Amino acid sequence: MVVALSSPAGPWPAFVTSAPGKVILFGEHAVVYGKTAVAGSLDMRAYALCTPRTDGLARLLLPDISVDATLPFASLPCRASVEQLAHPGDVAGLLAPHVLADYEGGPGRTAILTFAYLCASLVDEAAWAEGFSLCVRSLVPVGSGLGSSAAFHVALATALLRISGRLTAVDALGRKLVDAWAFRGEQVAHGTPSGIDNAVATHGGFLRYTKGAAPQPLGNSAAGGSSSAAGLRMLVCDTHVPKSTMALVAGVRELRDQHTEAIDAVMQAIDSISTRAADLLAAGKPGCAEAERHLAGAVRLNHGLLCALGVGHPALDLVCRVAGQRCMPAKLTGAGGGGCALVLVPAEADEQAVAEVTGELVAAGFACYPTVVGGPGVAMDDFVDGVPVARWVEAAPSELPGGADGQSDLIERFAALPDAALAQLAPRTGT
Ligand code: PMV
Repeated sequence: MVVALSSPAGPWPAFVTSAPGKVILFGEHAVVYGKTAVAGSLDMRAYALCTPRTDGLARLLLPDISVDATLPFASLPCRASVEQLAHPGDVAGLLAPHVLADYEGGPGRTAILTFAYLCASLVDEAAWAEGFSLCVRSLVPVGSGLGSSAAFHVALATALLRISGRLTAVDALGRKLVDAWAFRGEQVAHGTPSGIDNAVATHGGFLRYTKGAAPQPLGNSAAGGSSSAAGLRMLVCDTHVPKSTMALVAGVRELRDQHTEAIDAVMQAIDSISTRAADLLAAGKPGCAEAERHLAGAVRLNHGLLCALGVGHPALDLVCRVAGQRCMPAKLTGAGGGGCALVLVPAEADEQAVAEVTGELVAAGFACYPTVVGGPGVAMDDFVDGVPVARWVEAAPSELPGGADGQSDLIERFAALPDAALAQLAPRTGT
């Protein structure tokens, strides 16, 4: 499906990149103490459409966060100065104030910084000569611990790597490159990220992760790799209860200072749950009945242990209770103290029961996202179902005023695609 660019500065077709959000299945908090964690990709993704221009400018359009910036090459810091930065986040000091003037303080500022950092690092003047437009849309809920930032950075880095002529295919080598540059983007945005989010968004499937080691893909999933095993069906439930990851991590540390042996025993128990789950997922049958029974127990146990660490919340317990009443195990995911919970939906689950759980959680004021965990990672395509991306976007239903008239700029049309149309750009499982 993927066609290499004829040359970085030559004519090239519109293309689309995409990358998934993530959910931590097991091991949050314990991972801070060197224990194993397991994360998986969501089927909610960020999508970037990239089109060529003829005026030597680069436009970044992010309708979700009201960013629309058009930059000449000269507004970027030079590559040498970016390479000398002690930390990618220091790029702000290299940018002319007018570049950031319209975006002070908001998420737009971070996006512009990442864009400038990655462009300066990757895209040279020759590749920039004719210019390009990039619009990124995301179906990953923002600020919910579901890896929306990493999905954005992976989609963005992939697009810029391709424009620069450094990436022609999303193979093992390509993914390594994308992961490394997306991590830099995460550093610009978050300072000292662990790297798990960009690794999941890049590789997809399930990953085993321990601090200080490279995340290890568990070659098992629907990620388009060697196996066509199905992913895990889940409901991700956002309680909308605000939480601070930093404060929750600090709280666990304080508890451990007071009750070191007890907390270390809890961490060890979590580690054994994560390790066993990772082994099962690596065996390649996440959805088989035996694995599912095991994972169900692991999910319940892990939630209880996280509550013992003091990171539970009544809203999260409510999710566990509502789901548990219909034989669906649930646990908090991420930092806890609010935020999201995941509900494992067994293969034999009664659809009525799934609808009831969803209905009760929505009635409680929570958002409920049905998802399949363990699907494809980063993707880059020139065609959608055999149709060139540009033609597909032109033909897709749009929310532009006046309807689908085929006249508007491709980027504007992409920005106005309804979410359901956007979701159709997802790579097909197992391809
Ligand atoms: O808040 P989230 O979903 O990004 O997850 C935080 C996970 C912790 O283990 C609590 C912290 C960490 O840095 O791993």
